[in-house]
Amino acid sequence: MNIFRLSEPRYEAMKYRRCGRSGLLLPEISLGFWHNFGADADFQKCRSIVEYAFDHGITCFDLANNYGPPYGSAEETFGKIFRSSLSSHRDEIVITTKAGHDMWPGPYGEWGSRKNLLASLDQSLKRMGLDYVDIFYSHRPDSETPLEETMEALVSAVHQGKALYVGLSKYPEEMASRAYAYLKERHVPCLVYQGKYNMFLRDHESDILPQCSREGVGYVAFSPLAQGLLTNKYLHGMPEGSRATHSRFLHASDITETMLAKIRTLNEEAEGRGQTLAQMALSWILRRPEVTSVIVGASSVEQLADNLKAIETTTTNNCYPK
Ligand SMILES: NC(=O)c1ccc[n+]([C@@H]2O[C@H](COP(=O)([O-])OP(=O)(O)OC[C@H]3O[C@@H](n4cnc5c(N)ncnc54)[C@H](OP(=O)(O)O)[C@@H]3O)[C@@H](O)[C@H]2O)c1
Repeated sequence: MNIFRLSEPRYEAMKYRRCGRSGLLLPEISLGFWHNFGADADFQKCRSIVEYAFDHGITCFDLANNYGPPYGSAEETFGKIFRSSLSSHRDEIVITTKAGHDMWPGPYGEWGSRKNLLASLDQSLKRMGLDYVDIFYSHRPDSETPLEETMEALVSAVHQGKALYVGLSKYPEEMASRAYAYLKERHVPCLVYQGKYNMFLRDHESDILPQCSREGVGYVAFSPLAQGLLTNKYLHGMPEGSRATHSRFLHASDITETMLAKIRTLNEEAEGRGQTLAQMALSWILRRPEVTSVIVGASSVEQLADNLKAIETTTTNNCYPK
């Protein structure tokens, strides 16, 4: 039996921002489960990261059906940790999941059909041992499925009591606009847009961020450290076990001399500010008022502790504590 003792008062360590024009506040830093929480991960390490997160005011845990590897295993790991350490704190935690990317074989295992989304949500709840998630996302746009079908599946998830709020991820501006209108009409307004935004990728500044602001939708940034590139970890070679050594989403060949030169310059800038590069990269994203939260990944408690210091320099309106 795990004995997890929370420090009190843990909420003073974090700042919370209002998610769009909703009643929900999210922590400036959320924890993501895309990598580092699969079946091959060290369970005790995973548990320490999650406990440390919650104990430092991170109330939002970001999952998806296919996080692992293998697919589904990050939700299983989270479920196990939740049961052993956090179940008595359910009402203090925002748990998200998503459906839309490839998950199971055959024509119903991915994309935006009602069949996929609702079956996937049931599977996710089972894997995590939950009655409901707080936010259910359509994980990616599907140009083949009528948008109304995908959005109505999100509405159903809420009506069935399996999700409290809904969100979109990676939708282009025009499609997001139609989705927001549909969801508003059905009285299940879109809570949040999840998009890739970091110092190396600023596309959303010209379309998605202003749109979120106009629509009253929150914005959460994923891969805020460009999967680890926006830290000092690759400056002196390729650390053993780092993402670039094992993930199909980041390759050693991405870390070119040109990339290293950019990282080195940013690292010097961060040092000049008395920050680590990771902290500067996170507080840079949080300078935008449209951004509700950044979802960091972490392969150790030390990384998370480093990242959490980013909030020391953020200025936040409409937040908790006031
Ligand atoms: N909606 C979507 O389609 C989508 C897509 C991608 C991600 N996401 C969400 O966003 C979350 C975060 O994405 P991400 O993992 O790419 O985020 P990230 O924060 O950009 O990268 C995380 C990685 O950076 C390294 N790192 C983190 N903090 C560090 C520090 N202080 N010092 C040195 N290295 C550090 C670690 O790499 P090592 O493992 O090498 O140590 C860690 O695994 C995901 O878990 C998921 O929840 C959503």
